[in-house]
Amino acid sequence: MSTPTAPPVNAIYHDKVVRQFTVMSVVWGVIGMAVGVLVAAQLAYPDLTNGISWLSYGRLRPLHTNGVIFAFGVTALIGTSYWVVQRTCHTPLFAPKLAAFTFWGWQLAMVAAVITLPMGITQSREYAELEWPIDILIALVWISYAIVFFGTIARRTVRHIYVANWFFGAFIIAVTLLHVFNNLAIPAGGFKSYSLFSGVQDAMLQWWYGHNAVGFVLTTAFLGMMYYFIPKQVERPIWSYRLSIVHFWALIFTYMWAGPHHLHYTALPDWTQSVGMVFSLILLAPSWGGMINGLLTVSGQWHRLITDPILRFMIVALSFYGMATFEGSMMSIKTVNALSHYTDWTIGHVHAGALGWVGFITMGSLYWLIPRLYGKTRMYSQTAIELHFWVATLGIVFYVASMWIAGVMQGLMWRAVDANGTLTYSFIEALAATFPFYLVRLLGGVLYLSGMVIMAWNMFKTMRFVDADPQAANTPPIVPVLRPSAHT
Ligand code: HEM
Ligand code: HEM
Repeated sequence: MSTPTAPPVNAIYHDKVVRQFTVMSVVWGVIGMAVGVLVAAQLAYPDLTNGISWLSYGRLRPLHTNGVIFAFGVTALIGTSYWVVQRTCHTPLFAPKLAAFTFWGWQLAMVAAVITLPMGITQSREYAELEWPIDILIALVWISYAIVFFGTIARRTVRHIYVANWFFGAFIIAVTLLHVFNNLAIPAGGFKSYSLFSGVQDAMLQWWYGHNAVGFVLTTAFLGMMYYFIPKQVERPIWSYRLSIVHFWALIFTYMWAGPHHLHYTALPDWTQSVGMVFSLILLAPSWGGMINGLLTVSGQWHRLITDPILRFMIVALSFYGMATFEGSMMSIKTVNALSHYTDWTIGHVHAGALGWVGFITMGSLYWLIPRLYGKTRMYSQTAIELHFWVATLGIVFYVASMWIAGVMQGLMWRAVDANGTLTYSFIEALAATFPFYLVRLLGGVLYLSGMVIMAWNMFKTMRFVDADPQAANTPPIVPVLRPSAHT
């Protein structure tokens, strides 16, 4: 522990860049989710922004997905990975100036997204909409990120590489591959390009990318967060270090093959679709292995859930991770997908993972991190964290439950036929039946967004308030998060 005369332990680490990423993640969270609420409102009221092209649904939807996945999610991931890698490797960041470049470069790319997507400048590839000049900027930032992260690992002063870094490392390597191959294109002017691939190969490449964006960004990387911040919050080592290693290798091996489940009943060869389905079913095992490892880390400490909203965020996140992965494996079965594909069931599945898992594990981890980044012993308002938790949880329930019901209903209405084999319902009837569910989803979105606004307020207050005992906020040099036996 620090003595009053010793320099604060945090002083040896480069935390300015972690602070910058953390603050911007919360800010982008508010923006990305606000756009989500707007597109949810447009689906209920299609005339809402009529006549304003840059506010049209087709342009705002990719702005929402880029805003929440890349601006909110990845900004949080880079920031937390910089914190984690320094603490677990007992060394400051390698190449801190390059780390600063990753911050400014990534923010520039995100601002470019906010400008170009509403202008209708897009490659039309889902989750890879940004045009080639922005792609090149992202590639430069990503290579710099890899140098900083792996450079820090290379000069660690402990032999062991803590498992969270394995997950972050796999995320960095996989995203490099995915980003480069999916964006191979011939430029045709400053803001237009054509993919190098075509037809079914193009579709397969896109969904190899899309699925692994889910697998390596929305899953593997956030598991890295989970493996560090849950043990920290409960002040106990991870339940099974051995399981975490098995979890890691099984997960990253299996994810790479599951992409074809996005292309069931298409021109993709049937055997390829079946391979995707089988690997998606296998994927349930490592996914639940990871969830169980996180949950059991809390065993013996469950009573803390009553009083500790930060831990609650983390545990609810793991529960949604379990639900979304179970659901995903089921949806990858061809006959189930025949019902769910094109319906709002997929949107319900996405947001169970996105709001429940990605959102909550990020929020829990950042609530742990923010006071430590600003030399405070706690967040400014515990009540605000409680409020955030309940408002957001209610929001997820409204969002996900309404989309599940709407999705199954749509699937059943679209396939219903009468005795003559004629369709029972017209498309517009199915749409009209969906309207009340769109309203419930909108309400859920507003609640979830309100939680994010509360978090932003609490964060800015935490940055400013005068703490009674700032010295106590300096984290001691690595409280071991590993079992001693696993260390040896
Ligand atoms: C206030 C919270 C949010 C609201 C109201 C919201 C709303 C929406 C809406 C209306 C759509 C379009 C649905 C459609 O095409 O029918 C959508 C798509 C999507 N959202 Fe959100 N969203 C929110 C938060 C998030 C977060 C935090 C994430 C990720 C971390 C996320 C990831 C996505 C993704 C990946 C899609 C595309 C889904 C697909 O193509 O199947 N959303 N969202
Ligand atoms: C075992 C794990 C998982 C499996 C096997 C799986 C499987 C699936 C399947 C079958 C679909 C529907 C494809 C379609 O009909 O078009 C889908 C869509 C999707 N899933 Fe999952 N899922 C898993 C976990 C997750 C998690 C944890 C998230 C996190 C946020 C997630 C995010 C998404 C997204 C964003 C889509 C929509 C893609 C799009 O069409 O734009 N999935 N998933």
